[in-house]
Amino acid sequence: MSRRVVTLAHYYTQPEIQQMADKVGDSLELSLYAKECAADVIVFAGVRFMAETAKILNPQAEVILPDTNSTCSLVTQTDVAALKKWRESYPDHVHVSYINSSAEHKALSDWIVTSRNVDDVIAHLYAEGKKVIFSPDRNMGAYLNFQYGYDMPLWSAVCEVHDKFNQAALDEAFAATPGAKYLIAHPESPLPVLLHADYVGSTSGMLNWIKAYDREPEATIFVATEEGILYNMHAARPDLRIVQAPIYAGCQCNQCPYMKMNTIDAVRKAQRGEGGISIDYLDAALMDAARLPIERMLEFSR
Ligand code: 13P
Ligand code: SF4
Repeated sequence: MSRRVVTLAHYYTQPEIQQMADKVGDSLELSLYAKECAADVIVFAGVRFMAETAKILNPQAEVILPDTNSTCSLVTQTDVAALKKWRESYPDHVHVSYINSSAEHKALSDWIVTSRNVDDVIAHLYAEGKKVIFSPDRNMGAYLNFQYGYDMPLWSAVCEVHDKFNQAALDEAFAATPGAKYLIAHPESPLPVLLHADYVGSTSGMLNWIKAYDREPEATIFVATEEGILYNMHAARPDLRIVQAPIYAGCQCNQCPYMKMNTIDAVRKAQRGEGGISIDYLDAALMDAARLPIERMLEFSR
């Protein structure tokens, strides 16, 4: 009997890969889909932490990452032994970790969050009188601390793509662009950029903001995130002027090298069971420990 292959793609992959996928979405949507889909094989056109999360949530399925090197700087900048010591130095705090983290990192966490639900989860914990530490994304944590007056100790890793967005370059671009009016941004961007944004949210959140846009029709909207999602935004609203935010004056291209490792050829091969890496290296005890904080988030977000 043939095996049912389901392909998932993040918005940052090439348009052709998104068109080949059964589901395109942000981290939360793809995690939920991976957990609930009746697949024998999940080909995950994304990055390794996403494929690991899919495996943890659906251990019966074989999960294939098309390119073994598709990592994420938030993962590679976090030494898990050092993280463990840091976590142990706050014994009375709840450890909230962003989903852009390894399985070992998740196993050291009380809650996992995505860019979609991080505000709500942390507000919920503070409302319960909890003390919170946040890892690994320093920019996201700094934004939450500033925006809501929290005092969370932060781990210090960044997304190498979003960390490049630059407020001075944005100021120049706004001054040079007729009709420049709005900025929407992913919360992995630096604090000065986020403080100037009209909307801060996940990739799906930003796409929904664009879909619902009903303000000045001639305005230029700058988007501080990876360029892949511009395809979805232009397809949804061809009537709007949507451009990627600059990372330095005159530059409007910022790509995630790890997402772009998902070539069409690599994804097709993975679908045929010929290439990529199978996420079969996580042992059962590690997956059980990492699943708890993810399930806590999924339950909260339902
Ligand atoms: P989203 O969950 O918002 O899609 O973000 C994933 C990511 O890696 C952004 O850089
Ligand atoms: Fe990681 Fe940044 Fe790439 Fe997202 S865009 S996968 S956070 S390196």
